[in-house]
Amino acid sequence: MWNVLAAWWPRYGKMTNHFRTVVKNVCGERLWKLLVRARTNGIVKTLEYLCAHHRGTLSLQCAGEYHGTDKHDSAHSFAGVSYLDVYDKYLHQLRGKEIAVLEIGVRDGASLRMWKAYFKNGQIYGVDIDPRCEAFEERRVHIETGSQDDPKFLRGCFGKDIKFDLIIDDGSHISRMTIASFMTLFYERLNSGGIYIIEDLLCSYDKLQTEYNILETWPGMKYNDPAKSYDNSREEIDAFFLDKVHALDHRSGAIQFVHFWAMTCVIGKVSKYQAG
Ligand SMILES: C[S@@+](CC[C@H](N)C(=O)[O-])C[C@H]1O[C@@H](n2cnc3c(N)ncnc32)[C@H](O)[C@@H]1O
Repeated sequence: MWNVLAAWWPRYGKMTNHFRTVVKNVCGERLWKLLVRARTNGIVKTLEYLCAHHRGTLSLQCAGEYHGTDKHDSAHSFAGVSYLDVYDKYLHQLRGKEIAVLEIGVRDGASLRMWKAYFKNGQIYGVDIDPRCEAFEERRVHIETGSQDDPKFLRGCFGKDIKFDLIIDDGSHISRMTIASFMTLFYERLNSGGIYIIEDLLCSYDKLQTEYNILETWPGMKYNDPAKSYDNSREEIDAFFLDKVHALDHRSGAIQFVHFWAMTCVIGKVSKYQAG
């Protein structure tokens, strides 16, 4: 018996992989994913999540925590209010609707899974420059590979006829890219009355490449063109925002409101905007 075990031991890794595949096939994809999350979050949290999800009372904060996006944590909060607490104020009225959500920046798919759980009837779209992110596609979650500063890609992704009700920019946080994405997506692919969110504005003060070497240290950033600059200057994004506020004060253009919160900005599109 011991001889048999000893003979198997070096193949343990192979055995667990094999075991995993067998369990996955027996359970089916959905139950398997639930088991994986239950292992990460613990049984009690998982049951709480499932009950809230079933009753339709799941808060965005709870969905974010459960699915593992950092948008809920203390690094993305100010005075006890997280990004997700902020977004809930704008988004709760859309919850049951058949909306389309686009997020720039997928990483491990955590935030896309959160949007899927929160918007039970929504279609969730994600774009990322890292082609490995496509592995996180699932039912109601669609992912394409491309750069957020490529207007041609942004115009065509998922078929140019799809318009979004909510767009979140959680991509590179390089101001010139943030601005380029907004100029295409807000005006051409966001529905009238839609919401556009720009996250992590704290980054707009930093020389991200010179000080933090982000092309090498941040996930997915190495897929960006190394010949370009990845240092931000706050003046660049200030000029962009001032231009929008100027148009608002003069009652012109497509922007209904620009709401600044700590590190994140929520921009509303007027409900009867016609692209010119
Ligand atoms: C902060 S992570 C996204 C996290 C995710 N939204 C979440 O909350 O779970 C940023 C992502 O932006 C992607 N990214 C970096 N440069 C990009 C670019 N030029 N275009 C699109 N995505 C980019 C990276 O590959 C990375 O996956």
